[in-house]
Amino acid sequence: MKTHSLLMPLDMHVHLRDGEMLQNVAKLTSYTFSGAVVMPNLVPPVKTKEQLLAYKERIMLACGLEIKEDEFDEFFDDVGLSGGDFEPFMTLFYDNYSEDFLDEVREDIFGIKLYPAGITTNSEGGVSDFDVEAMRETLETMARMDIPLLVHGETDGFVMDREAEFMSIYELLASNFPDLKIVMEHITTKAAVEMLDKYPNLYATITVQHLLITLDDVAGGMLQPHLFCKPIAKRPEDREALLNVALNAHPKVMFGSDSAPHPQHAKESCGCAAGVFTAPIALQVLCELFDKHGKLDNLQSFVSDNAQSIYGICPEFKEVILEERPFTVPAKYGEVVPMYAGETIGWSIEDVL
Ligand code: DOR
Ligand code: ZN
Repeated sequence: MKTHSLLMPLDMHVHLRDGEMLQNVAKLTSYTFSGAVVMPNLVPPVKTKEQLLAYKERIMLACGLEIKEDEFDEFFDDVGLSGGDFEPFMTLFYDNYSEDFLDEVREDIFGIKLYPAGITTNSEGGVSDFDVEAMRETLETMARMDIPLLVHGETDGFVMDREAEFMSIYELLASNFPDLKIVMEHITTKAAVEMLDKYPNLYATITVQHLLITLDDVAGGMLQPHLFCKPIAKRPEDREALLNVALNAHPKVMFGSDSAPHPQHAKESCGCAAGVFTAPIALQVLCELFDKHGKLDNLQSFVSDNAQSIYGICPEFKEVILEERPFTVPAKYGEVVPMYAGETIGWSIEDVL
């Protein structure tokens, strides 16, 4: 039976949520990934050092990770926040933060996530006006401190054009802040792929679903709420462009699942919440896809090595062994329906070392 081993897989964009949902989903990510970039769009959004550290602690506990006594923190001096074989890379919700504040949180954050106001789940407090001068102090300080800016790149225009319309904002940011590392999160268009090579400081993450589906799969037949996410899947030529850079291990492209769990009732309802839940199947599906295209050897770059070089990180050791053996995706994980629920995919997790 064909097997494939991945070292230190990283999910560079994930929603772990909080409370009961966190308890339900966190282990599904920490089981197969060495680390994951955790989105801050909680209610309220993660905007202070106290919120960030407390959230990190809840994540570690939910993952069942060993608490290390030697990793003291001045805010939680009785509980270490790191350890085990999974690292949550914490992000703050963007605001025009002061230099003093950024100085104080630098050691605890991996990046800052910028949402345009109201563009997606829990983003009401995001940026409503991309006024470069108003953002300059924060973005220049971030560049100086080497804090990456992770961006949800959509305007409030026509849904299929939102990402393409946002390209001018990426250009504005990339050219005004050439030393700032900017990650175009969950790109879905050919336009975004083409931006990658235009600016040395622009990078991107790509989800599993956007490599596999187009708008047709979401809304071409019976409406598929579990494939509905933001940005919405686009046209075949967009998917081709994404596949091309992912399969060929473009060095500026990283895997970020954007796995975004919502309870079944919030998806299968009038007013479906945006988000596709892929955490438990992402690596298996990626193996199947890369194998189908004869590109399995490039998967390691896409799911780990590129992110390690781009962000300069050295993740905890983990080896995930996958096998070309059918896996029937469970109908639900707790209250959450995953992508491909009840369907059989071609690859399974054989072991995690
Ligand atoms: O589909 C999405 N779901 N896109 C996002 O940007 C947010 C996410 C969520 O938090 O549910
Ligand atoms: Zn997201």
